[in-house]
Amino acid sequence: MCGIVGYIGKRDVAPLLLEGLQRLEYRGYDSAGIVITGKSGELRTVKAKGRVRELESRIPKRFAGTTGIAHTRWATHGAPSDVNAHPHLDAEEKVAVVHNGIIDNASELRARLSAEGTVFASETDTEVLAHLIARSAAETLEKKVSEALRSVEGTYGIAVLHQDFPGRIVVARNGSPVVLGIGEKEMFVASDVAALVAHTRQVVTLGDGEMATLKADDFRTYTTEGSQTTATPTTVEWEAESYDMGGHDTYMHKEIFEQAEAVDRVLRGRIDDRFATVHLGGLNLDAREARSVRRIKILGCGTSYHAGQIGAGLIEELARIPADAEPASEFRYRNPVVDPDTLYVAVSQSGETYDVLAAVQELKRKGARVLGVVNVVGSAIAREADGGTYVHAGPEVCVVSTKCFTNTVVAFALLALHLGRVRDLSVTDGKRIIEGLRRLPAQIEEILKTEPEIKQLAKAYADARSMLFIGRVRGYPVAREASLKLKEVSYIHAEAYPASELKHGPLALIDPSMPTVAIIPDDDLLEKNRAALEEIKARSGRILAVAHQEQEKADHTILVPKNEDELDPILMGIPLQLFAYHTALALGRDIDKPRNLAKSVTVE
Ligand code: AGP
Repeated sequence: MCGIVGYIGKRDVAPLLLEGLQRLEYRGYDSAGIVITGKSGELRTVKAKGRVRELESRIPKRFAGTTGIAHTRWATHGAPSDVNAHPHLDAEEKVAVVHNGIIDNASELRARLSAEGTVFASETDTEVLAHLIARSAAETLEKKVSEALRSVEGTYGIAVLHQDFPGRIVVARNGSPVVLGIGEKEMFVASDVAALVAHTRQVVTLGDGEMATLKADDFRTYTTEGSQTTATPTTVEWEAESYDMGGHDTYMHKEIFEQAEAVDRVLRGRIDDRFATVHLGGLNLDAREARSVRRIKILGCGTSYHAGQIGAGLIEELARIPADAEPASEFRYRNPVVDPDTLYVAVSQSGETYDVLAAVQELKRKGARVLGVVNVVGSAIAREADGGTYVHAGPEVCVVSTKCFTNTVVAFALLALHLGRVRDLSVTDGKRIIEGLRRLPAQIEEILKTEPEIKQLAKAYADARSMLFIGRVRGYPVAREASLKLKEVSYIHAEAYPASELKHGPLALIDPSMPTVAIIPDDDLLEKNRAALEEIKARSGRILAVAHQEQEKADHTILVPKNEDELDPILMGIPLQLFAYHTALALGRDIDKPRNLAKSVTVE
């Protein structure tokens, strides 16, 4: 899951590409590279291990041109190094390729090409593409690229330059996102609109199996087989500023503090007070179909899977439909029984996560009905699903997802309320949930005001080598998500467990050096949760509770405003986002670019 960006036009290309790479760095940040067409048509390449700023420092003073492509990497084949950084070129350095994705049959192609005399410079899968394109006898660059792609298996979003075919960039997509940016006598290409929205908001999203040729004053799209396709420009919803840090030190802090506004946005225009329900325009599911649903299966990865777990609880509570959530990658490979009465819901911030996309495609192949709960408009999962709802969290740049988690859970509350009100949920309960939803933005603001206290607590616990997170029923997925946040950004080992499972094993871990973070809502399990605190205290464990009232047995309690029992999980996770943030800050971690991770996982 790398980031590619390209430009062809009248402007000096290198600064534009470097700016684009900086905006894509959340997709991968272990090495980067750039190639431009020089004054006499030669390809000029600079590559560097490390961040984009390292690449920038190596750009020679005279490095002018008006056409170029660039790449920021998240290594899959070959460790981060100058040689393995993209672009990759053929032996004559006439063809340059940047690639986001994985070529599954690369070693086979590499062996064949080596046997025929090709010498490889890098360890990457991508380099085979440069050699295949260079060897093609086809008369146009488009045909050379499509010929090369026909022998490739796997996923790709690529951009190609060829010295013998100046004045054009050829791009192609299969499984990895590729967006074209339409400018005034200039064209952009990128893995994500973040890299081009400062220059144009007119974009075309390529579909799988689609290619495009970009020229300064024109572009056309066609299939890998060569037949013309229709390019439908859309307008990017967000201003370029939305991709800026807006005065915060990090994107994580900015996005945590955008949550009240983001929740307000996902509720906007959807609440119907007259019928105590909500309208979700894009579901594409009429009342009769909604009533015929016998089961709901939610699929996602990482934080989206955790949001799905809370969503399943909300659907069971408010709509009384059996529901559960499962990691999409597990679902795909266990050869699940796909049942016609089950409604499948794919959850994803980026809408490009490969394991979720492949699960959706497999379900569609088996005739299942799939809804999407997605943040990025026009993304692959959103386009593949039969219907769905956008969570309107706005651009989420930090690898560690925060505001999108919260908005996704709120979107599930809206879906559960909608399904509940076409079934047996009463008007009274509908109104109760709607009032609870309306209270969320102000309550989130209240929680964010407690940041100074949470910062002190994070410092007090940052020396822990490991932490246990516990919760019951509604609190358990909150514990799972909070432990993931801490792991991702602070690198402290953290494990989440249902509090009821403690005495079946994890209690053995408890001693003064192993803190426990406990989710203790004021609901029907309060006493049971308190009993778990007793068990931990009896073994001298340190306890940090997140609760609606002070917990006597806890060393520290983070107080959270009470909402409706069903909606409390939405609020109880937010202080723990700040806890993870300040723990990582205290440990000097690179908050927005945690090691070994990337924002959207477009490879398997
Ligand atoms: C969350 O902080 C992580 N970045 C990761 O677990 C993420 O949630 C997962 O990769 C799924 O991404 P998606 O929501 O874009 O599909």
